[in-house]
Amino acid sequence: MAYENITVETEGALAVVSVARPSKLNALNDATLVELTRAFGEIRDDDAIQCVILTGGEAKRPAFVAGADIAELAEQDPMQAKKRSHLGQGLCDRIENLGKPVIAAVNGFALGGGLELALACHIRLASTDARLGLPEVGLGIIPGYGGTQRLPRLVGIGRALELIASGRHLKADEAERIGLVNHVYEPGELMEKARALAGQILKNGPIAVRFALESALQGRSLPMGEALDYEANLFGLISSTADMREGMKAFLEKRAAEFKNK
Ligand code: COA
Repeated sequence: MAYENITVETEGALAVVSVARPSKLNALNDATLVELTRAFGEIRDDDAIQCVILTGGEAKRPAFVAGADIAELAEQDPMQAKKRSHLGQGLCDRIENLGKPVIAAVNGFALGGGLELALACHIRLASTDARLGLPEVGLGIIPGYGGTQRLPRLVGIGRALELIASGRHLKADEAERIGLVNHVYEPGELMEKARALAGQILKNGPIAVRFALESALQGRSLPMGEALDYEANLFGLISSTADMREGMKAFLEKRAAEFKNK
């Protein structure tokens, strides 16, 4: 499938999705939101892909995504704004519920919608030159692609409210300290480390990875008892898979498992 604002490359079971609007620091115009939504739909439906890296590409001036496209936001009326919020939220929900781990490789600015996109990913790695924040209030708007909900869930309400109200940009080391990103690497190492992590994930049973993510993510909005029940149900269901039998057998035979996603 051809795209104008993003690229999608596959490397075995890994897909690397890069935003590619370098002249605008990868700002998310509506066309880019639509292309990303389509690309993640195709990845979701493609059994050959089991892990994704989302990044800002290898531009001369690296950026992950410097936010929603302000030139488009400046023109919006309330109905267009609501529609745009649903478009951005829909993309983020699709990423979070993809059923395959998505690693954000944050290589430069991840501001506004860019940070919201990274927050929807399951794992965030950053380069030392990353700058992260939700500066929307400085433009007279609020985060509208899930930032007011996902940031507090990730870093806690106290830190999130400070970041949302001040709009200040965090450097990578502070982002790591508060748990906004998991690890920080030199810019030249970021993609190598992201690929290495993807490689480690891809050795595991894909259904097991999917169910484990689903259990953790769904459990967040359930009371503890129901969440534990949800986990027990998936634990039960996974025992019906050929991959579960292969994983156990391989361990007992002291060899690497060959999972078939079945
Ligand atoms: N929307 C639209 N265009 C954007 C953009 C955005 N979110 N972020 C950057 N750009 C564009 C700039 O307009 C500029 O385009 P131009 O060369 O055609 O004028 C180009 O990208 C380079 O950005 P520039 O501002 O010149 O780079 P800088 O190094 O001076 O500053 C940032 C970098 C990221 C700090 C600055 O661009 C910025 O604050 N961007 C907006 C961030 C934001 O508020 N995001 C949330 C939006 S809801």
